[in-house]
Order: sequence, then C-alpha cells, then structure tokens
Amino acid sequence: MDSLSQAPVFEFREAILSAISLLAGLLPQSFLMWFRRIYGVLTLATYVTLTKSTPPGFPSSGNGLWYTTPATLWAKQMLPIGNGYLAAMIPGGIFQEVTQLNIESLWQGGPLQDPSYNGGNNLPSQQAQMAQDMQSIRQSIFASPNGTINNIEEICTPPGDYGSYSGAGYFISTLNNTGTTSNYGRWLDLDEGVARTTWSQGSSIFSREAFCSHPAQACVQYVNTSGQASLPTVTYAFSVSQETGLPAPNVTCLDNATLNIRGYVTNPGMMYEIIGRVQASNGTVSCNVVSGSTPTNATVSVSGASEAWITWVGGTNYDIDAGDLAHNFTFQGVDPHSNLVSLVSSATSNSYTELLSEHIADYTSLISPFSLSLGQTPDLSTPTDQIVASYQTYVGNAYLEWVLFNFGRYLLTSSARGILPANLQGKWADGQSNSWGADANINLQMNYWFAEMANLNVTQSLFDYMEKTWAPRGAETALILYNISQGWVTHDEIFGHTGMKLEGNSAQWADYPGKEISMIHAWDHFDYTNDVEWWKAQGWPLVKAVASFHLEKLIPDLHFNDGTLVTAPCNSPEQVPITFGCAHAQQLIWQLFNAVEKGYEAAGDTDTAFIQAIAAKREQMDKGLRVGWWEWKMDMDQPNDTHRHLSHLIGLYPGYAISSYSPELQGGLTYNNTFLNYTKEQILDAATISLIHRGNGTGPDADAGWEKVWRAACWAQLGNETEFYRELTYAIERNFAPNLFDLYSPGTLPFQIDANFGYPAAVLNALLQAPDVASLDIPLQVTLLPALPLTWSSGEIKGARIRGGITLDLQWSGGKPTSAVFTVDSSVAGRQRDVVVNYAGKVVGEFTSNPGTAKTVTF
Ligand SMILES: *[C@@H]1O[C@H](CO)[C@@H](O)[C@H](O)[C@H]1NC(C)=O
Ligand SMILES: *[C@@H]1O[C@H](CO)[C@@H](O)[C@H](O)[C@H]1NC(C)=O
Ligand SMILES: *[C@@H]1O[C@H](CO)[C@@H](O)[C@H](O)[C@H]1NC(C)=O
Ligand SMILES: *[C@@H]1O[C@H](CO)[C@@H](O)[C@H](O)[C@H]1NC(C)=O
Ligand SMILES: *[C@@H]1O[C@H](CO)[C@@H](O)[C@H](O)[C@H]1NC(C)=O
Ligand SMILES: *[C@@H]1O[C@H](CO)[C@@H](O)[C@H](O)[C@H]1NC(C)=O
Ligand SMILES: *[C@@H]1O[C@H](CO)[C@@H](O)[C@H](O)[C@H]1NC(C)=O
Ligand SMILES: *[C@@H]1O[C@H](CO)[C@@H](O)[C@H](O)[C@H]1NC(C)=O
Ligand SMILES: *[C@@H]1O[C@H](CO)[C@@H](O)[C@H](O)[C@H]1NC(C)=O
Ligand SMILES: *[C@@H]1O[C@H](CO)[C@@H](O)[C@H](O)[C@H]1NC(C)=O
Ligand SMILES: *[C@@H]1O[C@H](CO)[C@@H](O)[C@H](O)[C@H]1NC(C)=O
Repeated sequence: MDSLSQAPVFEFREAILSAISLLAGLLPQSFLMWFRRIYGVLTLATYVTLTKSTPPGFPSSGNGLWYTTPATLWAKQMLPIGNGYLAAMIPGGIFQEVTQLNIESLWQGGPLQDPSYNGGNNLPSQQAQMAQDMQSIRQSIFASPNGTINNIEEICTPPGDYGSYSGAGYFISTLNNTGTTSNYGRWLDLDEGVARTTWSQGSSIFSREAFCSHPAQACVQYVNTSGQASLPTVTYAFSVSQETGLPAPNVTCLDNATLNIRGYVTNPGMMYEIIGRVQASNGTVSCNVVSGSTPTNATVSVSGASEAWITWVGGTNYDIDAGDLAHNFTFQGVDPHSNLVSLVSSATSNSYTELLSEHIADYTSLISPFSLSLGQTPDLSTPTDQIVASYQTYVGNAYLEWVLFNFGRYLLTSSARGILPANLQGKWADGQSNSWGADANINLQMNYWFAEMANLNVTQSLFDYMEKTWAPRGAETALILYNISQGWVTHDEIFGHTGMKLEGNSAQWADYPGKEISMIHAWDHFDYTNDVEWWKAQGWPLVKAVASFHLEKLIPDLHFNDGTLVTAPCNSPEQVPITFGCAHAQQLIWQLFNAVEKGYEAAGDTDTAFIQAIAAKREQMDKGLRVGWWEWKMDMDQPNDTHRHLSHLIGLYPGYAISSYSPELQGGLTYNNTFLNYTKEQILDAATISLIHRGNGTGPDADAGWEKVWRAACWAQLGNETEFYRELTYAIERNFAPNLFDLYSPGTLPFQIDANFGYPAAVLNALLQAPDVASLDIPLQVTLLPALPLTWSSGEIKGARIRGGITLDLQWSGGKPTSAVFTVDSSVAGRQRDVVVNYAGKVVGEFTSNPGTAKTVTF
C-alpha cells in the first residue's frame, strides 16, 4: 500500500516490451531479430487472429478471461496460476511457452543472506537508552505546542538486508515447429482454475493447459495435438536469463526424464530447488546435459509423443518454524531436496487426467460453498482485454464486474494456501527484486477482507505467519524498544523484521505498529466460525499478547491532560507528523480490547487481573473519534488532504468503531473545555464529509487501485450506491490491466494485488453488511442490499457467511430483495446473539441465532 516515492518501481523490461509491441509493425526485421535474441520471449510463430468468440471449452457462464493473442507483458497480459506453495505466469505461447515461476518462500535478504540480520531491532544492551529516548520523545510530543515532533530517528534502525520476494526463473518448453497457425485462443477458466491455450496448424489442433494443484503441491503444463499422429519434438529447459538479478543455478538430470534445478537467490543466501519431471504417451523422453555450460545445464526432450507434460515442484531452505529464539531467529531449514523428490514422485505416479481431476475437485470444493450473481449477461464474443479497454466509469458492465469478483477469489485461493500468506503480489512476482519487496505490509489485511464473508477457508497461513514470524522477534522489540515485557509488536515483517526501519522520513514509513492490531482478523475468524478449538490454540494467544502490549503502551495524555489514555509516538500510516492519540491506532486498539472481552470466556482464560485491566483501559482510552478534525488528536487535518490512505476511517470499513458507533460506549469527550457527546448521525455525517475530502483515490501522492476500492467499500458502508459504484468502476477503468491484475499506477507498473482482493470486499459490502459490535449483548445489525447499484438490479448470493456462525442465501430482483434465508450453524459454541435484519432503513426481520435454526425473511 505504500507510495511510489518509497521505492523505484519502473521496470525497464516491461516498458521496452510495451514499446516494442507497439512498434513491431514499424521496425526493420533485423531489429526484431536482435530483440528476439535478447529477450527470447516472442514466439517465432506468426499467427492469424480469427477467433471471434470464446475458445472451445470456455465456460458458457462466461466465468473466465480470454484473449486472441499470446501475452508478452508479464504484469498486464500473462495469466496467473498457483496453489499457495508455487505460482506461475502463463503467456500462452505457441511453439514456445516461457512460463515464469515462483516459490512462495523465495526471498533474498534476511538471516540466510546476512547472519547478523536481526529483524531491525536495537541491541539488548541498548534497552535502557531506548527507554530513555522513548521517554523523551513522548515528553517532547506532549510539551510541543502543536503536539508534534519532526522525527524519531534515534529509535529507528537501518533496514539492513531486508531484501525482497524473488522470482524463481522460467521454464521454456519448445515445440520444434514453425509456420502459420490459426484459431488461436488462450484463457483462464475460473470454474476449474486452469489456464489453457489452443491453436490450429493445418489439420492439427494443438492444446496446452497449465494448473497448480494444491493437494499435489505441484504445477503441471500439458500439451497435446489432435489430427496428426504425434507432437513435434518438445524440449523443456530452465532459464534465468529473463529473471532479472537471479543468479544461474545448476541444472542437471535427476534421471532420464527429470530436470533438477538448484541455486541460490543470492550468494550467500537462500537456496532453492525446482524439480520438473516430464512424462509423455507413446514417445521417447530423454534428459540431456548441455555440454560446456557453466554452471551445469540440461534439457529434457520428448519425441514422437501424442501428449507430453511436465510436473514441477519447488522449495527452499526457509523454515517458518525456525523463526523463534530457540532457533536464534534464523529461519534456517533443511535442504528441500528429499521432500521435493518425494512430492514429484507422488505427483507423477498418477495419470495426467487424475492429477487434473484432483485439482479441479479441490479447487471447486473450496469455492463452491459461496456463489454470487450480479444478474450479468456473459459477453462471449468480446475478448477480456477488449472488454477492459472499453470499460467506462459509472457506465459499468455487470459481466466484467462479476468476473473480477470471481478472479479475486481465484487469486486468493491460488496464493493463500501455502506456508506463507498471500503477499503484496499474492505469490506472483518477476525478477529477483520487487517493488516494496512484494512484502506483507498493511495490504496483508486488505488481502483477506473478503475471505470470511465469501466462506473461503484460506486464512490458516495468515495466522501462522503472525504467530511464527511476528510474535517471536516482536517480543524482543516490545522489550528493547518500548521497555514492555508483555506481548509483542511489529512495525515491518517477513523474517521477523519487527523494528522501525530507518529510511527516508523514517516515521512515515516505519512507525506503524498497527500491523499487529490486525489481530482483529484473528477475532473475526473466530466470530465467523465459532471454532473454539482454534481460538484457544491460536487465535486467543495472539490477541491476548498484542492486547497485553497495548495495555502498557497506552499512556495518559499529558498534552490535553484530559484524563484519557493515548498511544505516543504515533503517526497516521504513511503520513506525518509524529504525534499522539492518532485516530487510526485509537480506534483499532479500542476494537482490539473489545475483541479480548468478547473472546475471553470462550478462550477459557482465567486471568481476571488481565481482563479487568482491559475493561478499565478500554473505558478510559481516547476512542479516536473527533468531529471537525479526524486523523490526529491535535486539530491538524487539512480539508484538501487527499492522501491515499483512509486511516482515520478504519472504523467505518473494515472496522466498526464508526459504523457501529455507540454514544453510550464511545461518547463523551472534553476538548478545549467543551464537553462533546456525538450522536451516531453526527459521527456518520462527519465520516461522509471526511471521505468526500479524501478525494477519489487519484491524488498527487498516488493513483492506486487499492485506495479506490477502499473508498468504494466506505461509500457502500454509508449506504451511498452512487458514490460506491462510481468509485468501484473508476478503479476498474483506471487500474485494472487487460489480464485483470491491479496496477499501482494507471497503465504502468507495478502490479499490486491488494485491489484485486479489496475489490470483492467492496462488492460484498454493497450487497450485505453485518459490521461487528462492541459486545455480544448488542444485537448484530444485518443490512441487505445497502448500496445496490442499478447495474446489478437482480442477482443472488448463496452461502455468504455472517459473524456468529450464520449463513445467508439472498436473492433480489428489480433492485429489491425477494428472499433472504439465514441458517445458523449447529454449533454456535454458546455464543447465541440477537440479529436484526434491515432493508431500506426498516427492520424486516429479527431472530436469535439458536444453533441449527433457520430464519426466512420475506418481502
Ligand atoms: C544469533 O544471531 C545473531 C544475529 O541475529 C548473531 O549475532 C549470533 O551470533 C547468533 N548466535 C548464535 C548462538 O548463533
Ligand atoms: C510543531 O512545532 C515545532 C516547534 O515546536 C516545529 O518544529 C514543527 O515544525 C511544528 N510542526 C507542525 C506540523 O507544525
Ligand atoms: C527440429 O526440426 C528440424 C526440421 O524438421 C530438424 O532438422 C531438427 O533436427 C529438429 N530439432 C530437434 C531438436 O528435434
Ligand atoms: C540451458 O540450455 C537451454 C537450451 O540451450 C537454454 O534455453 C537455457 O537458457 C539454459 N539454462 C541455463 C540456466 O543456462
Ligand atoms: C528411464 O529410466 C527408467 C528407470 O529410471 C527406465 O525404466 C526407463 O526405461 C528409462 N527411459 C528411457 C527412455 O530411457
Ligand atoms: C552447483 O554446482 C557447483 C559445482 O558442482 C557447486 O559448487 C555448487 O554448490 C552447486 N550449487 C548448488 C546450489 O547446489
Ligand atoms: C498412445 O498411448 C496410449 C496409452 O498411453 C494408447 O492408448 C494409444 O493407443 C497410443 N497411441 C498410439 C498412436 O500409439
Ligand atoms: C479449513 O482448512 C483447514 C486447512 O487449512 C482445515 O484444517 C480445516 O478443517 C478447514 N475447515 C473447514 C471448516 O473446512
Ligand atoms: C492544502 O492547502 C494548504 C493551504 O492552502 C497548502 O499549504 C497545502 O500544501 C495543501 N495540501 C495539499 C495536500 O494539497
Ligand atoms: C453520551 O450520550 C449518551 C446518550 O446518547 C449517554 O448514554 C452517555 O452517558 C453520554 N456520555 C457521557 C460521557 O456523558
Ligand atoms: C478554544 O476555545 C476558545 C474559546 O471558545 C477559542 O477561542 C479557541 O480558538 C479554541 N481553541 C481551539 C484549539 O479550538
């Protein structure tokens, strides 16, 4: 979610490729030959575009993306596949397919590169000094007439070898053929999670398909032909020539059909391995060493086959379980070789058809509990890139909007189910170094906004990541940096980077100890599922530890001396100045403390002193809500601040401090000797004004997709379908590429996946809302179709999840609901609650969520 100014983002190769594609017709042949030699990605085939309708086999519902020419641009045109462990980008080449690969843990930097890497923490011996510095920082802030200071550099540390998520090289498969082809089509089938390419040559039809199977932990690329006896010779090679910065690995023959790729992302650094085994029917497979190559190289060839496929697996020596004190925070794992050998053996022991069916069954079982219709009519005669190109803000196109929803769900399903959660690019990244490291910053939370409501069981790696990479080093940071012995804190991430990074205006980037407040996700997971066993084992320990830290971090406001507790120093994420009582942090801590109180009993905790302290401080803390000025406790807001973040509106969406505002619980504050007690209407009106002033997500600081979909979700929360739809469609027109990837800046790079994931959340928030509440005694307010745009006047949601263990099937027609059926899980773990169903400002139903019951609301 960061600003462009933080890191250089321009990718030369993409720009060159764009320019070349445009100029291809105008350039002399000799230049094109040179260019192809250098880049090697353009197919040598010439193709005739005849396709005027979806390729054969494309879902008749229109649930997919399709194109009539092969892709050359990584971020804008290629199609993603993945299983969480591995990912790949598919260009849909003809005689040559150059597939770019990823392994989820392949990261340059960190302790595997630099043994002195310590997660950006100060030295234990500096604890006393840090405590003193922190004390004086706080004093300066409180004493300053404007309540701010200019920097906190003394407590920051240089980023060191923070590093970046890296690409893992390319598989090149080549069909030894030339000549003219026709009837080309490539597509991504979102019903099955498979990328396919087809073309004809003479009387032969060629088909290639690729997918990554989660159960097999392997990816596969398959090719066959019909109409002639056998395929031309197929050669499989591995290359790093296009993977900018990645050193060449050793490529050897593991056996007569298997490539074994072993390399280092940096030297020294993390080690990675890919094993690709080739299988074929009716042909001869051989692995051949490329002579005279340093490091060693090899290729696999298949001749005389009717079909051929390569199955690859990959891993590194990263170990998420070795990020704790007992392992000296090394994340050092074992050589992945023997595990990969056994994975590839088991993946290749089945037939190709079995592997494919297993993948489709797994993918569909994950996504099928939930479905959405926006009343769209599929357009089966216009390729996706052309639909995107002619898309207009506010005019919209229900079909594309529906595909984008399903694509977001596909991407999360395909990137989250590994050891690590979906990062800033999901798991798809090209080159050894990526923008913002492709890390897991604030975007990590947006990535998962829609997961619970869309009934997508993909969050396990998110919680493992928090537990295993944030908590261990974060406890050290809490102690050394904040002199707090309870709980943990993090400011950055991956390899347990928990300190404050010193770079640029350090606080603006470094001081966001709000990531750990994303423990709200842990609370939500429990609240949606009632999974008490999980809550006790993983959710509660996370939430309790972070709340413990904030219990100590909250301090009396010595600027206003108004008796409230505030956090200091703080700044609004990615904004200066450095001050105290920042709205974002105060709202989130309040929500966190509520989560503790709501989940205490179910956790079976008996620490009464802790829960009493939480209740007392929750009561006493500044709630971070101030009409007239919002972002900071000092009145410093500028009405023209169109900053990309909506930090102070976190309680509007995705939080609830604003959307479920209660004067009884949050009201009453004294400012400048005036007592104020806002009504909910005042708070929501102020949120509206503030949202208007933040602009449409195209400001001098950024023009990103995520800021627009966040704004769309907020407008939906305010029940404003006009602004919701304007902002949502504006994001699509401005930020979504022909392959539907979200681009940070319109038309250019980099790819950032957060808008792809924020998008389904915004769509859902226009159709169904049930924001959290401070206590289980407060009825849950469900609102049906709160911001339904005209374009979606009929439609259906099946299997949406609502907190409390409730499932909703909802239908609407003519812009009005026609049926809503609520079904309560058979286990609500003793957490029954009252539910009020609202539509168009009226209560249309009420029920108590008794286990196993159903409630039908008719209209
Ligand atoms: C533990 O890691 C630190 C760097 O984080 C290093 O300085 C130290 O030598 C290591 N200790 C051991 C016992 O390996
Ligand atoms: C706040 O006041 C200090 C001097 O006390 C000054 O250095 C700083 O620039 C001011 N900050 C803002 C945001 O006005
Ligand atoms: C490719 O085909 C050409 C012409 O048919 C042939 O001369 C050449 O040996 C083939 N190469 C391979 C690697 O099969
Ligand atoms: C291995 O050889 C193949 C065929 O010549 C080539 O395409 C590939 O780039 C080489 N790979 C490496 C890692 O050198
Ligand atoms: C490849 O090796 C396996 C044993 O590892 C053997 O069964 C098979 O016949 C060999 N295939 C070829 C084409 O040499
Ligand atoms: C690649 O091969 C060289 C020479 O055998 C060896 O020194 C090196 O360790 C190998 N690299 C990997 C990653 O196995
Ligand atoms: C190719 O092999 C398959 C089994 O893998 C067999 O059913 C088929 O008849 C063979 N086709 C030819 C042309 O040999
Ligand atoms: C969700 O997925 C996890 C694996 O990540 C599995 O253990 C669990 O049983 C699944 N839960 C449900 C309700 O399907
Ligand atoms: C807002 O307006 C003030 C006063 O005109 C100006 O100093 C400031 O630079 C403006 N800020 C932005 C973000 O445009
Ligand atoms: C604020 O107003 C609500 C009623 O709207 C009242 O219940 C609450 O006690 C008031 N808060 C304070 C601190 O007076
Ligand atoms: C505080 O109130 C006084 C008197 O109403 C007013 O003159 C002053 O501007 C206010 N200060 C702030 C910071 O709002």
